[in-house]
Amino acid sequence: MSPLPSSTRTIPDIPSVPRHIAVIMDGNGRWAKKRFMPRVMGHQRGVESLREVVKACRDLGVEYLTVFAFSSENWRRPADEVSFLMSLFLKMLEREVAKMHEKNIRLKIIGDRSRFDDKLSQTMLDAEQLTANNTGLTLTIAANYGGRWDMMNAVQSMLKEHPQLAQGFTEEDMAPYLSMSDAPEPDLFIRTGGEQRISNFMLWQLAYTELYFTDVLWPEFGRKELETAISSYQKRERRFGRTSDQLKGEQHQGEGNA
Ligand code: IPE
Ligand code: IPE
Ligand code: MG
Repeated sequence: MSPLPSSTRTIPDIPSVPRHIAVIMDGNGRWAKKRFMPRVMGHQRGVESLREVVKACRDLGVEYLTVFAFSSENWRRPADEVSFLMSLFLKMLEREVAKMHEKNIRLKIIGDRSRFDDKLSQTMLDAEQLTANNTGLTLTIAANYGGRWDMMNAVQSMLKEHPQLAQGFTEEDMAPYLSMSDAPEPDLFIRTGGEQRISNFMLWQLAYTELYFTDVLWPEFGRKELETAISSYQKRERRFGRTSDQLKGEQHQGEGNA
């Protein structure tokens, strides 16, 4: 299989509807707090938003949706919140995977699985296996994921297979070992909840992604908000290092050829 284009090595196609959207689903706790409810109610409500966003992505023709569900740093939270999130994840898989399969969705999970219990790990594997040959939307859930972990893990796996690369290696050598190696780099990144940071999400893959931040809390994010994010993306000029004039020149050339 030929490697996917890299934004730093070639100039990728610029789709008008993003092919790949990456989302940090943030603000669940604050959503609940505003309503005098326990934080975990926000997480529960967040699953509804995910369902709506998945549906909207399928309708709009987005090919890949990658969502940050639990970061490698989220273990620092109170133990009862962590265990609620783990059981919510398990319940969500048990309840939704058959429906996803029916809808031709391919489900993938990225992150370090070594800290999940056996039942959750097995359910993750089963879900991935069941949906592996589906050809609709690819939904990737990042769980116990960290961008630094991803890169370190890639380098380690690469060197294990090709020890001679310790002498020096290229992007192309390493890229196949990253957890998102089979997806194009995200065109659009969305973070809800008002914070303007990456929080260790997809550090490698976001190199040339358009970033969109909104104050809307994740449990309130739905189709309309997604469409607003996509229209913001559509107004951007993606230059990949070139000048604006160069891009305009290209457009005129295109028009001439038409
Ligand atoms: C995001 O919402 C979900 C997870 C990190 C699991 P938060 O739980 O971070 O919500 P806030 O940021 O505290 O409002
Ligand atoms: C990032 O949100 C991780 C997820 C949404 C899963 P956090 O709420 O954990 O991020 P910080 O701590 O505010 O940066
Ligand atoms: Mg948060």
